[in-house]
Amino acid sequence: MKILVVGAGQMGAGIAQVCAGFGHAVRLNDVDAGRIAAGIAGITKLLDRDIEKGRRTAADKAAILDRIRPHASLTDDVADIELAIEAATENERIKLDLFRALDAALPPAAILASNTSSISITKIGAVTARPERVVGMHFMNPVPVMKLVEVIRGLATSDQTFTTVRDLALQLEKVPAEARDFPGFVANRILLPMINEAIFALYEGVASVEAIDTVMKLGMNHPMGPLTLADFIGLDTCLAIMDVLHDGLGDSKYRACPLLRQYVAAGWLGKKSGRGFYDYRAAKTNGAAVAATPAR
Ligand SMILES: NC(=O)c1ccc[n+]([C@@H]2O[C@H](COP(=O)([O-])OP(=O)(O)OC[C@H]3O[C@@H](n4cnc5c(N)ncnc54)[C@H](O)[C@@H]3O)[C@@H](O)[C@H]2O)c1
Repeated sequence: MKILVVGAGQMGAGIAQVCAGFGHAVRLNDVDAGRIAAGIAGITKLLDRDIEKGRRTAADKAAILDRIRPHASLTDDVADIELAIEAATENERIKLDLFRALDAALPPAAILASNTSSISITKIGAVTARPERVVGMHFMNPVPVMKLVEVIRGLATSDQTFTTVRDLALQLEKVPAEARDFPGFVANRILLPMINEAIFALYEGVASVEAIDTVMKLGMNHPMGPLTLADFIGLDTCLAIMDVLHDGLGDSKYRACPLLRQYVAAGWLGKKSGRGFYDYRAAKTNGAAVAATPAR
């Protein structure tokens, strides 16, 4: 398939890598050209690691990179695109504007998928002239590793669109799970309130960052503690999802913890900005991330 990936951050780069890895021709777009270059550099690093570990050959790497082309414009050279996968910042206005632009530029038969964590697929579809060809394709982070793709049907999404995207997920050796279009779908409806509660526990001084993560790792067998996971997801993305749950479901149990809001205001967005609940700048020098947030 010819696939346009919009947004070259941590998710877009991963989606581009996996699609190219399974033979698809990928064009990688971002508003920030620097992010496209950084995305491709990140993919190159991961492929090098695969070669070191004997999981891939240098020829595989060259073929995959050859299938990923930087694509600066959303409107030029898109007449042959069959599928767009949008993975831009989790912000409703940005996504609605992007889908309007994609709808105007891409051929009428193209499917427009969003990797949104929580924004309504129905609402995104409604700003296009092809809501039956708009669908949620929600990959997990890191995309090359995680098996799940949540496939979300908007109210108008056709069976054909759903089947095409589900079959693509299978071809990418992922496991698709179908969800209906309600705030947070399944994954984040359940995950984010848990993460938010962990932040409340920290905020209220119940325990330290390490203690909260240790309890959930060793007590509940989670592979990663909720505060580490929040840092990996990005605290801005976590806050955006909580706000969608709160607005869409109207229940105060979904209110974002003030500490999460404060961290985002400070630009402490987690691993991607170097600091969140843990300090990743220190990790660069001594090899381990240390808790940046003291217990109260
Ligand atoms: N981080 C996660 O764990 C995770 C998991 C699943 C889904 N998602 C979703 O994936 C999407 C991207 O998240 P991310 O973690 O990769 O964020 P990110 O901040 O790493 O990357 C977002 C990218 O979108 C780009 N962008 C912003 N506006 C744009 C526009 N108009 N056109 C093109 N590019 C634009 C930014 O420049 C940036 O490079 C969000 O919708 C998020 O909710 C994230």
